[in-house]
Order: sequence, then structure tokens, then C-alpha cells
Amino acid sequence: MILPEAPGVKTFCFKTTDDSWFKYFPGQFITIELPTPGEKLLRTYTLSSSPSRPLSIAITVKAQRGSLGSQWMLDHVQVGDRFRAYGPGGLFTFHNHPAEKYLFISAGSGITPMMSMTRWLYDDGAHTDITFVHAARRPSDIIFRAELERMAQRLPDLHISFVIEEDDPYVAWTGYRGRLSQLMLPLMAPDYLEREIFCCGPAPFMQEVRDILHSVGFDMEHYHEENFLAPVLAESEREEPDDVIPDEDSRAAVIFAASGVEAACRETDTVLAVAKAAGLNIPSACQFGVCGTCKVRKLSGEVHMVHNGGISDDDIASGHILACCSNPIGRVEVDV
Ligand SMILES: Cc1cc2nc3c(=O)[nH]c(=O)nc-3n(C[C@H](O)[C@H](O)[C@H](O)COP(=O)(O)OP(=O)(O)OC[C@H]3O[C@@H](n4cnc5c(N)ncnc54)[C@H](O)[C@@H]3O)c2cc1C
Ligand code: FES
Repeated sequence: MILPEAPGVKTFCFKTTDDSWFKYFPGQFITIELPTPGEKLLRTYTLSSSPSRPLSIAITVKAQRGSLGSQWMLDHVQVGDRFRAYGPGGLFTFHNHPAEKYLFISAGSGITPMMSMTRWLYDDGAHTDITFVHAARRPSDIIFRAELERMAQRLPDLHISFVIEEDDPYVAWTGYRGRLSQLMLPLMAPDYLEREIFCCGPAPFMQEVRDILHSVGFDMEHYHEENFLAPVLAESEREEPDDVIPDEDSRAAVIFAASGVEAACRETDTVLAVAKAAGLNIPSACQFGVCGTCKVRKLSGEVHMVHNGGISDDDIASGHILACCSNPIGRVEVDV
């Protein structure tokens, strides 16, 4: 099934070929192989569906200007097409942060993990207290609006607020207008300081949300966010560099043992980039250490890896690295 959700946004629903059930946590993602002309692209999408309905999964795709993979999906995928997908993965789920009251804040396609979690909580019937805040350019861009409003009519503790930047012509809008602000948030969720907050949207939007929360002294232990693109952090939010810092002038080398290739590089190059330059293919999708697609085994040597949750401590302990966010320090040998 393929459902149009909003201008430039579609939901794609998938089943397995043998009708087996899907198991995942609401808020997790999959990485899907797209057979675009010329090359296979890997792209990561949050499952907008809920594991409470396990016979199928859904992803909801929005293409930005200049998009290759997502636009290809919107233009070419047809009912009956088959895809290879990997996962599920990701830590952005309330299962990791149980609370009595949640505040979901999203913008644009960042609504997908919030929708999965809300669908799950709705099906669960436990009457969890959810305030759902979503920002969109226009009312017609609000993804899942009708379903959210229907759920809110049946769940007394689901409160929805939409904020838009522009009106749709000839359509009345009685909700919030402008950009989500420090004045607006308490009107939408008077007790927001007591809530477990999940946020997903474009980097500047999430920065604004973090700024609001920092300014009121919110305990950021209770704030969780998901980046769809490489995260952009304000100077004050950057963590102190650890003991090993890759040096642009220091020479390094990556030995791709299974391919019999040795490539000289700089310490600031990633293992993924070195492989690509040497004509080797390490499958990759997000390229900022969240999806886990580029995981490879390190056989010897040292890397400086700054990931975003795409690899478990067990995998690291067993010698694995994410090639997209690992810089070789000196000579490093990988099983590629
Ligand atoms: C964990 C995770 C979950 C995700 N979940 C979803 C989801 O539920 N729905 C969804 O639609 N996408 C989701 N994404 C994003 C998706 O994986 C693609 O990365 C994104 O759509 C860009 O791929 P593309 O092929 O469209 O564009 P590309 O061809 O890779 O990029 C084309 C150009 O557009 C720019 N660009 C791409 N995306 C954006 C953006 N969002 N904002 C600004 N510029 C952009 C790029 O910088 C590039 O210059 C998720 C990503 C991650 C990592
Ligand atoms: S490509 Fe996603 S973690 Fe490396």
C-alpha cells in the first residue's frame, strides 16, 4: 500500500514475502536498499507504523530539494515492488525512557518516530499522558493530522498542538502561528518541565527547542532527540575532545585485509572515505554514525570513533567500528 500523506510525502507499507511478523520498538528505523539507476542507494527511515500491528511496517518519506533516494521513492516505487532492508536499529524510543508523561516535539518528517510511539501508546490502551507538538510550514503539510485528531478524540490524555508558519489560502486556521517559542511551549504543555521530552526535526528546529529548554533550566537528562542528518551542535554543547584527536598532518594507512589493498591517508580521513577512494564498497547510509550500516570488524590498530548510537558497546568490545565515523590513528587493518 502507498498512501499520499501531504504534498511531497508518502507512506510506503511493506509485508514480508512469507507473512511473518515484524518485531521492533516504536521509534526505531530501518535501512532500505533503493535500486536507483546507476547505483544502489541505502537510505534510513524511521518506522512510522507501530509494532502493535506487526503484520506490516510503514515508512513515511519526505523528499527535500535535490534529494536522490527519497525523491526516487516518491516517483518510482509501486505497489508490489520488493526491497531488501536492514534493521531495526536505533535507541530513540520511550521504551528506553519510561515515564508517566511525555512531550513529543517534531517538525516536518521528524513526526515519524512520534507517530510510531503515539500509535503504540494508543493501541496499548494504558491512557499515557502525551502532549504532541508538531510544527509544519502550512496546515496542508501536517503529516498524519486526521489520524492524530481522531486518536485525540478517543484518548483523554492525548493533547495535540500544531504550529504553522503560513496559512493555506482560503482555509481557516485557528491553531498556533509562527515559530515554536518559549512563550508558546507553556501554553501547549503547561507542565512541560515535568515531562520526558522527545524531539525530532531539522537541526535548526531542534537547536531552538534545546535553547528554550536550556534557558528554563530543564534537566536535559529527560530530553532525547533523533537526527535525520548529521547533528549540528552549538559551540557550548560540544563535548570536550577526548585524549585522541586526529591530526590533519599525520599520515595514516588503512589495510583492507580481505581485499588485499593498503591505502595511505590522513588521520582526518574516515575509513569509509579511504575505502571509497580505493575503489572498495563498504555499504553506508546515514554517514554520521547512527544507522549502523557501515559496521566493519577492525583486525588491528587504533581508530578515533565518534558515533551517534549506531554501534553497541558489545560490538565495540568485539572489535567492530563504524567506518563512516572512524578515523585511522596510524596503521589500521579492517576485515573488508
Ligand atoms: C535515523 C534516521 C531516520 C530517518 N527517518 C526518516 C523518515 O522517517 N522520513 C524521511 O523522509 N527521512 C528520514 N530520514 C532521512 C533519510 O534517511 C535521508 O537521509 C534523507 O531523506 C536524505 O536522503 P535523500 O536521498 O532524500 O537525499 P540525498 O540525495 O542524500 O541528499 C540530497 C541533498 O539534500 C540535502 N538534504 C537531504 N535531506 C535533507 C533534510 N532533511 N534537510 C535539509 N537538507 C537535506 C542533502 O544535504 C543533500 O545536499 C532519516 C534519517 C535517519 C538517519
Ligand atoms: S553509514 Fe550509518 S552509521 Fe555509518
